[in-house]
Amino acid sequence: MATSTLQDLLIETLRDTYHAEKQLVKALPRMAKAATSEELKAAFNNHLAVTVEQVNRLEQAFELLGAPVRSKRCAAMEGLIEEGKELINEDIEPQVLDAGLIAAAQKVEHYEIAAYGTLRTWAEMLGHTEAAELFQTTLDEEAEADETLTQLAESGVNAEANSAGVEEEDER
Ligand SMILES: [Fe+2]
Repeated sequence: MATSTLQDLLIETLRDTYHAEKQLVKALPRMAKAATSEELKAAFNNHLAVTVEQVNRLEQAFELLGAPVRSKRCAAMEGLIEEGKELINEDIEPQVLDAGLIAAAQKVEHYEIAAYGTLRTWAEMLGHTEAAELFQTTLDEEAEADETLTQLAESGVNAEANSAGVEEEDER
């Protein structure tokens, strides 16, 4: 299919986002397992449940737009997840890893916030009101997840990471 209209681009972007979310369903359990902070583990596990629901919502959106449910490789999310994996595989202090995992997860959330904002606006423009509402619901969830991560970072994870590094240096 040639991409000639905004409707085509909307479907392409939907396919890209579908692939992104499905990759995230696989990555979040790894991130939860790698996290040390119980709150951070819980936040990742909670967002996993939310993400599974977001995948369902995207499938509903395909139906509303009259397009087959299909993914298109999302290289951006692959890259973001790959960077998260590299971090987990590094020789890294657990508390420092937690701070890094939050940073990696926030990059993912911001990517998704951009994607869903675009999907919502295009769907609205093209008169797909119901689909636009679905995208807005997910957009709100992504913003909430981002906010939770900021709170976790500011309420202790960054400070723990900071003192973990200092203790390490004292021991040397
Ligand atoms: Fe998501």
